[in-house]
Amino acid sequence: MSDTCKFKIDGKEIIAKKGQTILEAAKENGVFIPTLCNFTGVKPKGSCRICSVKINDRFMTSCTTPVAAGMEVESNTEEISDLRKSIIELLFVSGNHFCPSCEKSGNCELQALGYRYQMMVPRFPYSFDKKNVVATGPKLLKDQDRCIKCQRCMKTIKDDEGKRYYAFKNRGRDLEVVMDEEMSKTITDELAKEAMENCPVGSIIYKGVGFSEPIGTRKYDKQPIGSLIETN
Ligand code: FES
Repeated sequence: MSDTCKFKIDGKEIIAKKGQTILEAAKENGVFIPTLCNFTGVKPKGSCRICSVKINDRFMTSCTTPVAAGMEVESNTEEISDLRKSIIELLFVSGNHFCPSCEKSGNCELQALGYRYQMMVPRFPYSFDKKNVVATGPKLLKDQDRCIKCQRCMKTIKDDEGKRYYAFKNRGRDLEVVMDEEMSKTITDELAKEAMENCPVGSIIYKGVGFSEPIGTRKYDKQPIGSLIETN
């Protein structure tokens, strides 16, 4: 029995390994589907919904939906682009994303998706409370204004025993992702840099280095998101 199957994304035939998600198969076949919460090696949860596609008239998250032979997936339609744009707008109005002064500007996936989906003025009213910047640890700061609660830091930044550096605090509107204060004191340089890199926005910033890579020369300044298939 073959361990591959064929299905279509926007009419393009895709050959996938059985058990793969639509997103994984799309990536392997050079089809870009945007992601924010998804991260290679981490079990997908489908929380941000930006990877939504339409299958049989239903919206599904491509990072959690396994491929099936003969499946017809819509991804690059006006309707889906508008859905993704509305999710980006919602994220922008839920925090104070002041891009021009952000160290992640040009390397920020949310900002890059804002450009890709041509967000101008969000259709939703701004709705965020005053939030903190927590900068007590020696290596990292956490800007709660920019956090989109994707959980990438929670799932990928762990010590040698698998203990997580980041966790949720509070609930509902007060929900925050916070760093363990004690653990933050001993985080290695390497892991601290990884935490900043894995954050899709500018919420986790490595201290002491600023704008060493000039604006205009950063990842998405050179290549708009989706023009190359991302590896994460
Ligand atoms: S990337 Fe699929 S739901 Fe976030």
